[in-house]
Amino acid sequence: MIEVKKLTGEYLNDLKPKEVLDLGCGLGKKSLRFLKGGTNVTGIDKNKFRISQEHFKFIQSDIKEYKFEKQYDLIIASLILHFFRETVAIKIIKQIKDHTLEGGLNFLICMSNEDSCSKEKSENFYPSLKKLKELYSGWEIVKEDQDFTAEEEHGDLPPHNHNLIFLLVKKVI
Ligand SMILES: C[S@@+](CC[C@H](N)C(=O)[O-])C[C@H]1O[C@@H](n2cnc3c(N)ncnc32)[C@H](O)[C@@H]1O
Repeated sequence: MIEVKKLTGEYLNDLKPKEVLDLGCGLGKKSLRFLKGGTNVTGIDKNKFRISQEHFKFIQSDIKEYKFEKQYDLIIASLILHFFRETVAIKIIKQIKDHTLEGGLNFLICMSNEDSCSKEKSENFYPSLKKLKELYSGWEIVKEDQDFTAEEEHGDLPPHNHNLIFLLVKKVI
């Protein structure tokens, strides 16, 4: 079973990136941890979150319209790609890859094709692990996991769980 907070720590806590981009950052749960090390973090979200911390630049934008400004050594897309149609999500992944420095990393958490939400929104991006890895062919797979989360309740939804893919990949030279 996947425990998101714990597993995220296992993926990210030992990394020492200099420039991080967090797409759909929300409250910055995935990227604020890097500020301790003096890392510059840019967080993009369509909703205005009040994250005012030194070295954290928040940009309110829809990811679909966001023009990537530079190259990063870590780009995070956590629990965001399922909001987009598959063709759009694949274009976003291409942008992410193109704006990653050589030797840099991408960290993705995706709801998979085994998640119950994938049946309700079948046109959106709920990839299999195989498909996600194919999109990163030529990159080094540093770490991967896929499993269900524990049952949870939020919003108006009945108790449910999710099937998540965690993927950390490195752009090899
Ligand atoms: C499930 S939350 C994940 C937040 C964070 N990435 C995390 O892992 O904790 C999804 C976030 O994506 C943002 N979001 C959804 N669609 C978006 C879009 N088209 N452009 C930018 N942000 C978007 C939401 O506002 C929300 O903060």
